[in-house]
Amino acid sequence: DLQATLDRIAAVTDLAALDAERVSALGKNGWVTALLKTLGGMTPDERQQRGPEIQSQRAEVAAAIEARKAALESAELERKLATERLDLSLPAADMPVGSIHPVSQVMDELAEIFADLGFAVAEGPEIESDWYNFTALNMPETHPARAMHDTFYLAPEKEGETNVLRTHTSPVQIRAMQQHGAPLRIIAPGRVYRSDSDATHTPMFHQIEGLVIDRGITMANLKWTLETFLKAFFERDDIAIRLRPSYFPFTEPSAEVDVGWSMENGRRVVGGSEGWMEVLGSGMVHPRVIAAAGLDPDEWQGFAFGTGIDRLAMLKYGMNDLRQFFDGDLRWLRHYGFGA
Ligand code: PHE
Repeated sequence: DLQATLDRIAAVTDLAALDAERVSALGKNGWVTALLKTLGGMTPDERQQRGPEIQSQRAEVAAAIEARKAALESAELERKLATERLDLSLPAADMPVGSIHPVSQVMDELAEIFADLGFAVAEGPEIESDWYNFTALNMPETHPARAMHDTFYLAPEKEGETNVLRTHTSPVQIRAMQQHGAPLRIIAPGRVYRSDSDATHTPMFHQIEGLVIDRGITMANLKWTLETFLKAFFERDDIAIRLRPSYFPFTEPSAEVDVGWSMENGRRVVGGSEGWMEVLGSGMVHPRVIAAAGLDPDEWQGFAFGTGIDRLAMLKYGMNDLRQFFDGDLRWLRHYGFGA
Protein backbone atom coordinates (compact mmCIF):
# COMPACT_ATOMS: atom_id res chain seq x y z
CA ASP A 1 0.00 0.00 0.00
CA LEU A 2 2.73 2.45 0.93
CA GLN A 3 4.69 2.01 -2.29
CA ALA A 4 1.52 2.23 -4.39
CA THR A 5 0.56 5.48 -2.64
CA LEU A 6 4.04 6.97 -3.08
CA ASP A 7 3.99 6.02 -6.80
CA ARG A 8 0.61 7.65 -7.35
CA ILE A 9 1.73 10.83 -5.48
CA ALA A 10 4.78 11.01 -7.72
CA ALA A 11 2.55 10.66 -10.79
CA VAL A 12 -0.14 13.30 -10.06
CA THR A 13 0.04 16.41 -12.26
CA ASP A 14 -2.26 18.83 -10.45
CA LEU A 15 -3.06 19.96 -6.93
CA ALA A 16 -6.61 18.55 -6.97
CA ALA A 17 -5.39 15.03 -7.75
CA LEU A 18 -2.72 15.37 -5.06
CA ASP A 19 -5.36 16.32 -2.50
CA ALA A 20 -7.39 13.25 -3.46
CA GLU A 21 -4.32 11.11 -2.67
CA ARG A 22 -3.93 12.89 0.67
CA VAL A 23 -7.56 12.08 1.57
CA SER A 24 -7.28 8.44 0.52
CA ALA A 25 -4.19 7.94 2.74
CA LEU A 26 -4.42 10.42 5.64
CA GLY A 27 -8.13 11.39 5.55
CA LYS A 28 -10.74 10.23 8.02
CA ASN A 29 -11.30 7.03 6.00
CA GLY A 30 -7.75 6.79 4.63
CA TRP A 31 -5.72 3.65 4.87
CA VAL A 32 -3.01 5.19 7.12
CA THR A 33 -5.70 6.47 9.46
CA ALA A 34 -7.22 2.98 9.50
CA LEU A 35 -3.84 1.50 10.46
CA LEU A 36 -3.44 4.05 13.26
CA LYS A 37 -6.84 3.02 14.60
CA THR A 38 -5.73 -0.64 14.88
CA LEU A 39 -3.15 0.41 17.51
CA GLY A 40 -5.91 0.77 20.12
CA GLY A 41 -6.79 -2.96 19.99
CA MET A 42 -3.19 -4.16 20.33
CA THR A 43 -1.30 -5.48 23.33
CA PRO A 44 1.39 -3.17 24.68
CA ASP A 45 4.09 -5.33 23.16
CA GLU A 46 2.46 -5.39 19.71
CA ARG A 47 1.85 -1.68 19.93
CA GLN A 48 5.46 -0.97 20.82
CA GLN A 49 6.57 -2.78 17.71
CA ARG A 50 3.86 -1.71 15.17
CA GLY A 51 3.40 1.84 16.44
CA PRO A 52 6.69 3.25 15.18
CA GLU A 53 6.28 1.40 11.85
CA ILE A 54 2.84 2.90 11.22
CA GLN A 55 3.97 6.37 12.33
CA SER A 56 6.90 6.27 9.97
CA GLN A 57 4.61 5.25 7.07
CA ARG A 58 2.36 8.21 7.93
CA ALA A 59 5.35 10.53 8.02
CA GLU A 60 6.63 9.20 4.71
CA VAL A 61 3.30 9.76 2.97
CA ALA A 62 2.95 13.27 4.46
CA ALA A 63 6.49 14.22 3.38
CA ALA A 64 5.88 12.90 -0.14
CA ILE A 65 2.68 14.98 -0.39
CA GLU A 66 4.48 18.15 0.80
CA ALA A 67 7.34 17.61 -1.64
CA ARG A 68 4.99 16.97 -4.56
CA LYS A 69 2.91 20.01 -3.63
CA ALA A 70 5.97 22.26 -3.63
CA ALA A 71 7.06 20.86 -7.00
CA LEU A 72 3.62 21.36 -8.57
CA GLU A 73 3.38 24.93 -7.23
CA SER A 74 6.78 25.96 -8.54
CA ALA A 75 5.97 24.39 -11.92
CA GLU A 76 2.78 26.42 -11.97
CA LEU A 77 4.75 29.60 -11.19
CA GLU A 78 7.23 28.83 -13.98
CA ARG A 79 4.35 28.33 -16.37
CA LYS A 80 2.80 31.67 -15.39
CA LEU A 81 6.13 33.48 -15.71
CA ALA A 82 6.61 31.99 -19.15
CA THR A 83 3.12 32.66 -20.50
CA GLU A 84 2.22 35.94 -18.80
CA ARG A 85 5.46 37.74 -19.63
CA LEU A 86 5.06 41.35 -20.86
CA ASP A 87 6.31 41.81 -24.37
CA LEU A 88 8.42 44.95 -24.01
CA SER A 89 9.37 44.89 -27.68
CA LEU A 90 5.82 45.85 -28.70
CA PRO A 91 5.91 49.37 -30.22
CA ALA A 92 3.95 51.91 -28.13
CA ALA A 93 1.00 53.78 -29.60
CA ASP A 94 1.93 57.19 -31.03
CA MET A 95 1.21 60.07 -28.66
CA PRO A 96 1.31 63.78 -29.47
CA VAL A 97 4.45 65.42 -28.12
CA GLY A 98 4.49 69.02 -26.91
CA SER A 99 6.79 71.69 -28.25
CA ILE A 100 8.18 75.06 -27.26
CA HIS A 101 5.80 77.99 -27.88
CA PRO A 102 7.19 80.67 -30.22
CA VAL A 103 7.18 83.24 -27.39
CA SER A 104 9.21 80.94 -25.12
CA GLN A 105 11.47 80.07 -28.03
CA VAL A 106 12.21 83.74 -28.73
CA MET A 107 12.74 84.47 -25.01
CA ASP A 108 15.32 81.67 -24.92
CA GLU A 109 17.02 82.96 -28.07
CA LEU A 110 17.19 86.50 -26.62
CA ALA A 111 18.53 85.31 -23.26
CA GLU A 112 21.26 83.40 -25.08
CA ILE A 113 22.23 86.31 -27.34
CA PHE A 114 22.42 88.75 -24.44
CA ALA A 115 24.22 86.26 -22.20
CA ASP A 116 27.03 86.32 -24.78
CA LEU A 117 27.13 90.11 -24.34
CA GLY A 118 27.38 89.80 -20.56
CA PHE A 119 23.74 90.50 -19.64
CA ALA A 120 22.05 88.65 -16.76
CA VAL A 121 18.29 87.97 -16.70
CA ALA A 122 16.29 90.00 -14.13
CA GLU A 123 12.65 89.65 -13.11
CA GLY A 124 9.92 91.65 -11.46
CA PRO A 125 6.28 91.12 -10.46
CA GLU A 126 3.40 91.40 -12.92
CA ILE A 127 1.28 93.09 -10.25
CA GLU A 128 3.37 96.21 -9.79
CA SER A 129 3.01 99.26 -7.62
CA ASP A 130 2.14 102.55 -9.25
CA TRP A 131 5.49 103.84 -7.95
CA TYR A 132 7.64 101.27 -9.81
CA ASN A 133 5.51 101.25 -12.95
CA PHE A 134 5.26 105.04 -13.28
CA THR A 135 6.56 107.38 -10.56
CA ALA A 136 10.12 106.05 -10.29
CA LEU A 137 10.29 106.14 -14.09
CA ASN A 138 9.84 109.91 -14.04
CA MET A 139 6.08 109.77 -14.52
CA PRO A 140 4.57 111.54 -11.50
CA GLU A 141 0.84 111.20 -10.92
CA THR A 142 -0.14 114.05 -13.20
CA HIS A 143 2.18 113.06 -16.04
CA PRO A 144 0.31 112.88 -19.39
CA ALA A 145 2.36 109.85 -20.51
CA ARG A 146 0.45 107.76 -17.97
CA ALA A 147 -2.66 108.17 -20.10
CA MET A 148 -0.93 106.51 -23.07
CA HIS A 149 -0.58 103.19 -21.30
CA ASP A 150 -4.24 102.01 -21.09
CA THR A 151 -3.48 100.75 -17.61
CA PHE A 152 -5.35 97.99 -15.75
CA TYR A 153 -5.69 99.33 -12.20
CA LEU A 154 -6.25 96.97 -9.25
CA ALA A 155 -8.69 97.80 -6.47
CA PRO A 156 -6.54 99.35 -3.70
CA GLU A 157 -5.87 97.09 -0.72
CA LYS A 158 -4.39 99.78 1.51
CA GLU A 159 -5.12 103.49 1.68
CA GLY A 160 -2.86 105.45 -0.69
CA GLU A 161 -1.31 102.32 -2.26
CA THR A 162 -2.19 101.80 -5.91
CA ASN A 163 -1.28 98.60 -7.75
CA VAL A 164 -1.46 98.04 -11.50
CA LEU A 165 -0.79 95.22 -13.91
CA ARG A 166 2.58 96.39 -15.17
CA THR A 167 2.20 98.13 -18.51
CA HIS A 168 5.84 97.57 -19.51
CA THR A 169 8.98 95.83 -18.27
CA SER A 170 10.65 99.16 -17.41
CA PRO A 171 9.84 98.89 -13.65
CA VAL A 172 12.37 96.03 -13.59
CA GLN A 173 15.04 98.68 -14.35
CA ILE A 174 14.35 100.24 -10.94
CA ARG A 175 14.19 96.91 -9.11
CA ALA A 176 17.44 95.67 -10.66
CA MET A 177 19.31 98.89 -9.78
CA GLN A 178 17.98 98.73 -6.21
CA GLN A 179 18.91 95.08 -5.82
CA HIS A 180 22.29 94.96 -7.54
CA GLY A 181 23.52 98.55 -7.70
CA ALA A 182 26.01 99.52 -10.41
CA PRO A 183 27.64 98.61 -12.73
CA LEU A 184 24.78 96.57 -14.16
CA ARG A 185 23.88 94.77 -17.36
CA ILE A 186 20.48 93.05 -17.43
CA ILE A 187 17.64 92.02 -19.66
CA ALA A 188 14.14 91.58 -18.24
CA PRO A 189 11.70 89.53 -20.33
CA GLY A 190 8.11 89.03 -19.20
CA ARG A 191 4.38 89.58 -19.49
CA VAL A 192 2.91 93.06 -19.61
CA TYR A 193 -0.71 94.23 -19.76
CA ARG A 194 -2.63 96.96 -21.54
CA SER A 195 -6.33 97.37 -22.11
CA ASP A 196 -6.19 96.99 -25.88
CA SER A 197 -7.21 94.32 -28.39
CA ASP A 198 -7.01 93.98 -32.18
CA ALA A 199 -4.88 92.06 -34.73
CA THR A 200 -1.68 93.67 -33.44
CA HIS A 201 -2.64 94.19 -29.78
CA THR A 202 -3.63 91.74 -27.05
CA PRO A 203 -4.42 92.74 -23.42
CA MET A 204 -1.44 90.62 -22.34
CA PHE A 205 1.74 90.59 -24.37
CA HIS A 206 5.45 90.16 -23.82
CA GLN A 207 8.26 92.68 -23.65
CA ILE A 208 11.95 92.50 -23.09
CA GLU A 209 13.80 95.29 -21.37
CA GLY A 210 17.51 95.93 -21.58
CA LEU A 211 19.49 98.06 -19.14
CA VAL A 212 23.17 98.94 -18.91
CA ILE A 213 24.49 101.12 -16.09
CA ASP A 214 28.17 101.96 -15.86
CA ARG A 215 30.59 104.88 -15.99
CA GLY A 216 30.92 106.76 -19.26
CA ILE A 217 28.14 104.97 -21.17
CA THR A 218 27.09 106.76 -24.38
CA MET A 219 24.57 106.34 -27.18
CA ALA A 220 27.31 104.71 -29.26
CA ASN A 221 27.20 101.77 -26.81
CA LEU A 222 23.43 101.62 -27.22
CA LYS A 223 23.60 101.60 -31.01
CA TRP A 224 26.31 98.93 -31.15
CA THR A 225 24.45 96.70 -28.70
CA LEU A 226 21.17 96.93 -30.63
CA GLU A 227 22.86 96.29 -33.97
CA THR A 228 24.73 93.29 -32.59
CA PHE A 229 21.60 91.85 -30.99
CA LEU A 230 19.42 92.32 -34.10
CA LYS A 231 22.04 90.70 -36.35
CA ALA A 232 22.26 87.71 -34.03
CA PHE A 233 18.48 87.43 -33.60
CA PHE A 234 17.56 87.68 -37.29
CA GLU A 235 20.64 85.69 -38.25
CA ARG A 236 21.83 87.99 -41.00
CA ASP A 237 24.58 90.58 -41.40
CA ASP A 238 22.74 93.05 -43.64
CA ILE A 239 20.80 94.55 -40.73
CA ALA A 240 20.46 98.32 -40.94
CA ILE A 241 19.11 100.36 -38.07
CA ARG A 242 17.99 103.95 -37.81
CA LEU A 243 17.56 105.93 -34.59
CA ARG A 244 14.73 108.48 -34.70
CA PRO A 245 14.45 111.14 -31.99
CA SER A 246 11.50 110.34 -29.75
CA TYR A 247 10.22 110.83 -26.24
CA PHE A 248 9.99 108.56 -23.21
CA PRO A 249 9.79 110.08 -19.73
CA PHE A 250 12.44 107.67 -18.42
CA THR A 251 15.11 108.25 -21.08
CA GLU A 252 16.80 111.44 -22.26
CA PRO A 253 17.58 111.63 -25.08
CA SER A 254 15.14 109.02 -26.37
CA ALA A 255 15.16 107.26 -29.70
CA GLU A 256 12.84 104.98 -31.56
CA VAL A 257 14.77 102.31 -33.43
CA ASP A 258 13.75 101.31 -36.93
CA VAL A 259 15.13 98.29 -38.73
CA GLY A 260 15.44 97.98 -42.52
CA TRP A 261 13.23 95.49 -44.36
CA SER A 262 13.05 94.11 -47.87
CA MET A 263 10.72 91.89 -49.90
CA GLU A 264 11.71 88.24 -50.17
CA ASN A 265 9.38 85.64 -51.74
CA GLY A 266 6.48 88.06 -51.57
CA ARG A 267 6.98 88.62 -47.86
CA ARG A 268 8.41 91.54 -45.92
CA VAL A 269 11.51 90.33 -44.04
CA VAL A 270 13.99 92.03 -41.73
CA GLY A 271 17.23 92.82 -43.53
CA GLY A 272 18.28 95.12 -46.36
CA SER A 273 16.76 98.62 -46.58
CA GLU A 274 13.83 98.85 -48.99
CA GLY A 275 11.89 100.39 -46.12
CA TRP A 276 11.95 100.95 -42.36
CA MET A 277 9.85 99.59 -39.54
CA GLU A 278 9.90 100.45 -35.88
CA VAL A 279 11.11 97.68 -33.57
CA LEU A 280 12.35 99.23 -30.33
CA GLY A 281 12.08 102.10 -27.87
CA SER A 282 15.34 103.22 -26.31
CA GLY A 283 17.40 106.03 -24.86
CA MET A 284 19.89 107.15 -22.24
CA VAL A 285 18.51 106.46 -18.75
CA HIS A 286 17.16 109.70 -17.30
CA PRO A 287 19.21 110.96 -14.31
CA ARG A 288 15.99 111.16 -12.28
CA VAL A 289 15.42 107.43 -12.86
CA ILE A 290 18.94 106.60 -11.72
CA ALA A 291 18.41 108.76 -8.62
CA ALA A 292 14.98 107.21 -7.90
CA ALA A 293 16.66 103.79 -7.82
CA GLY A 294 19.15 105.08 -5.24
CA LEU A 295 22.25 105.59 -7.43
CA ASP A 296 24.23 108.78 -8.00
CA PRO A 297 23.49 110.05 -11.52
CA ASP A 298 26.71 112.09 -11.51
CA GLU A 299 28.70 108.88 -11.24
CA TRP A 300 26.54 106.44 -13.23
CA GLN A 301 25.08 106.68 -16.71
CA GLY A 302 23.33 104.11 -18.82
CA PHE A 303 21.11 103.18 -21.70
CA ALA A 304 17.86 101.25 -21.79
CA PHE A 305 15.68 99.74 -24.47
CA GLY A 306 12.41 97.88 -24.66
CA THR A 307 10.62 95.90 -27.33
CA GLY A 308 7.78 93.42 -27.86
CA ILE A 309 8.84 89.78 -27.81
CA ASP A 310 5.70 88.68 -29.66
CA ARG A 311 6.41 91.23 -32.34
CA LEU A 312 9.99 89.98 -32.72
CA ALA A 313 8.62 86.44 -33.04
CA MET A 314 6.14 87.56 -35.73
CA LEU A 315 8.91 89.26 -37.71
CA LYS A 316 11.29 86.31 -37.44
CA TYR A 317 8.78 83.55 -38.16
CA GLY A 318 6.48 85.40 -40.58
CA MET A 319 3.33 85.33 -38.43
CA ASN A 320 0.66 87.97 -39.00
CA ASP A 321 -1.96 87.85 -36.22
CA LEU A 322 -0.82 88.46 -32.66
CA ARG A 323 -4.06 87.08 -31.18
CA GLN A 324 -3.25 83.60 -32.49
CA PHE A 325 -0.22 83.46 -30.21
CA PHE A 326 -2.59 82.99 -27.30
CA ASP A 327 -5.33 80.81 -28.85
CA GLY A 328 -3.56 77.51 -28.14
CA ASP A 329 -4.48 76.26 -31.64
CA LEU A 330 -2.13 73.41 -32.55
CA ARG A 331 -2.83 73.83 -36.29
CA TRP A 332 -1.46 77.37 -36.11
CA LEU A 333 1.64 76.26 -34.20
CA ARG A 334 2.28 73.43 -36.67
CA HIS A 335 1.82 75.76 -39.62
CA TYR A 336 4.78 77.79 -38.39
CA GLY A 337 6.81 74.70 -37.60
CA PHE A 338 6.31 74.70 -33.82
CA GLY A 339 3.80 71.88 -33.21
CA ALA A 340 4.83 68.23 -33.11
N1 PHE B 1 8.83 100.97 -21.81
C1 PHE B 1 8.73 101.47 -23.17
C2 PHE B 1 7.41 100.99 -23.78
O1 PHE B 1 6.78 100.13 -23.23
C3 PHE B 1 9.88 101.01 -24.03
C4 PHE B 1 11.20 101.59 -23.59
C5 PHE B 1 12.00 100.88 -22.71
C6 PHE B 1 11.64 102.81 -24.06
C7 PHE B 1 13.22 101.40 -22.31
C8 PHE B 1 12.85 103.32 -23.69
C9 PHE B 1 13.65 102.63 -22.81
O2 PHE B 1 7.00 101.46 -24.81
